[in-house]
Amino acid sequence: MTTDADNGGQPASPWTVPQFSAAKQQGRKLTVLTAYDFTWAQLLDEIGIDAILVGDTLGMVVQGRNSTLRVTVDQMIYHAEMVVRAVKQALVIVDMPFMSFHVSPEQAMENAGRLIKETGAAAVKLEGGVNQAGTIAKLTGADVPVMAHVGLKPQSVLSIGGYKVQRAKQPLLDDALAAQEAGAFAIVLECVPREIAAEITATLTIPTIGIGAGPDCDGQVLVTNDMLGLTPGFTPKFLKKYADLRNTVETSVRNYIQETRDNSFPDDSHSFHE
Ligand code: KIV
Repeated sequence: MTTDADNGGQPASPWTVPQFSAAKQQGRKLTVLTAYDFTWAQLLDEIGIDAILVGDTLGMVVQGRNSTLRVTVDQMIYHAEMVVRAVKQALVIVDMPFMSFHVSPEQAMENAGRLIKETGAAAVKLEGGVNQAGTIAKLTGADVPVMAHVGLKPQSVLSIGGYKVQRAKQPLLDDALAAQEAGAFAIVLECVPREIAAEITATLTIPTIGIGAGPDCDGQVLVTNDMLGLTPGFTPKFLKKYADLRNTVETSVRNYIQETRDNSFPDDSHSFHE
């Protein structure tokens, strides 16, 4: 991998899927955050994130729903296209939403093809392991890079009855191995006990990207809005809040309202002259 020593070991050219997978053997922890629009994608990319996930969490974060289930392929394309246009370095991965790949491998091929061709993203992500191995194999066989997602699968919220930590060790191992054998280049492990995540990470040759799966994964992913403190009332154990942006925005907007009302904004320095 070509790296720029002055750039913290990041690739000097845009990340590729093989470079992302190879980071595991190089012992380089992978960093992934979500973005859904141009402004945030550009900022995360310039700061040096390794990969940006256009997650179907946009159903909650952007659309204000209580699950990801109503997100459509067209909506994913709308958001992913903006993200790809902003990004110069990071690997952009786009989620396949609920029921966009479940009907048949052919349906998955058609929708993954649209997601890649209409957005320019480098890869798709889909929730599933053993149950989606055939679809992952079909996609990777057609040169569509796939990141798998096992453990807590938010698209299964109705059948599992909520967003719960997944503790059944053997099914988790089976899912991870099935995804790897089907050709996935990486795998998200969501809400899995850290000991099980560590064992899966040691077993697989592809990188594991954890969210609520402890420190032994090969990388981490968080929802950007959550880690920056923009999601009121969302406090799962795995979430670390790196900022309180809601508070910053509140103070700024209150100041703007106050200064506009008392006529101290705009002052002469913000005015044009003849
Ligand atoms: O949709 C999403 O943002 C995700 C992450 C939480 C991993 O799947």
